[in-house]
Amino acid sequence: RIVFLNGSFLPIEEAKVPFMDRGFLFGDGVYEGIAILDGHLVDNDAHLERLERSLREVRIPNPYTRAEWTRLEEEIARRNGMTEGFIYFQVTRGVAERDFMFPENTAPTVAMFTQAKAIVNAPAAEKGIAVITVPDQRWSRRDIKSINLLAQVLAKQAAKEAGAQEAWMVQDGFVTEGGSSSGFIVTKEGRIVVRPLSNAILPGITRKSLLALSQDAGIELEERLFTVEEAYDAAEAFMTSASTFVLPIVSIDGRSIGDGKPGPITKKLREIYIRMAS
Ligand code: PDD
Repeated sequence: RIVFLNGSFLPIEEAKVPFMDRGFLFGDGVYEGIAILDGHLVDNDAHLERLERSLREVRIPNPYTRAEWTRLEEEIARRNGMTEGFIYFQVTRGVAERDFMFPENTAPTVAMFTQAKAIVNAPAAEKGIAVITVPDQRWSRRDIKSINLLAQVLAKQAAKEAGAQEAWMVQDGFVTEGGSSSGFIVTKEGRIVVRPLSNAILPGITRKSLLALSQDAGIELEERLFTVEEAYDAAEAFMTSASTFVLPIVSIDGRSIGDGKPGPITKKLREIYIRMAS
């Protein structure tokens, strides 16, 4: 397996990050994750735009232009013979003696790897997934795609231990988002409900594309907060992320959603998303 680290492509065993990297010590970095399907990058521009924004918000200089990032993504996919899966990349503030304040004259650390994965023919897409709800214990700048994911690690582990595949995080009774996905419900009238963008959630790229596609398909949208009770009572529920596209949710906290099977609107949205991405 070939990875990219600080300007070089090399076997993963040889890719070493120094002990004093600020990503390791402070979680001082940001990341992106993008799907590759049939050998091409899905929504690449939007992901790179979000990376630029994350870097700007935490004041890490962007080491590459959009064209340079794209070349690296394409090359790592090619070198790994990957036609379907996930490309992960992260930028940390670099290596320096441990001190909270920014180091001077330190180059960011850039790391990139691929994970081959069947996204389109995923078993979870057929059966749907189970979700549990947990308190949202994260910081207040969730719009930044930071590498600090401890709350999500704990939330998703709790989901696994409950026999579920994702955790929906809840603040003041309202669902914020999934541990690594955006959360949606469908009302009995067939309208999609999704939380509006703010500092409380990550601006999901799959979310954004899907909302545009759903408009074209004539599906009505309510961008507003929704409660856990409303989700239990919804006709359908689903999640979106770059590494899964659209996945049906068939139970929340052990309660069946709708008839407990992937719903028709969710299935249709998954199909139109895959068509766009292919
Ligand atoms: N997670 N919300 C959170 C908290 C996320 O971590 C993610 C993505 C999303 C969906 O965003 P997008 O559609 O741009 O992937 C929403 C990635 C896939 C991960 O950490 O693996």
